[in-house]
Amino acid sequence: METLLEAALKARSFAQAPFSKFQVGAAIEDSDGKIWTGCNVENASYGLTICAERVAVFKAISEGVKPRTFKRIAIAADTDKLTPPCGACRQILWEFLGNAEVILVNPRGATARYQMIDLLPEPFDASFI
Ligand code: THU
Repeated sequence: METLLEAALKARSFAQAPFSKFQVGAAIEDSDGKIWTGCNVENASYGLTICAERVAVFKAISEGVKPRTFKRIAIAADTDKLTPPCGACRQILWEFLGNAEVILVNPRGATARYQMIDLLPEPFDASFI
């Protein structure tokens, strides 16, 4: 578990956030215990920015990890009130992680734990289509 949090904090150091200066890291553990990391990557055309969580999810999925087989995700940002995933990321996390554990962390070691269903109640997903 400590490793996952450390991986999220380390990933945060790679954030490309020259516009917001708000650096975020994410680390996801898959069913084999492998860790997939991501950081936010911003663009001068601001709307093209991608969040750390989505970078991590898409890295794993694009290399063959099966949806809904992940164990948990850690998200790191330097805020005292721990930074939760944005709304768009919650939808993506529900799609690919389902009701996984979400751990928020900051560089001072504060942590908070949630289940995805509490962060995205009544989620829309493929079961409705
Ligand atoms: N950001 C993330 O990477 N994840 C979140 O869940 C919240 C927001 C990034 C996007 C943008 O680069 C910066 O934080 C400020 O919104």
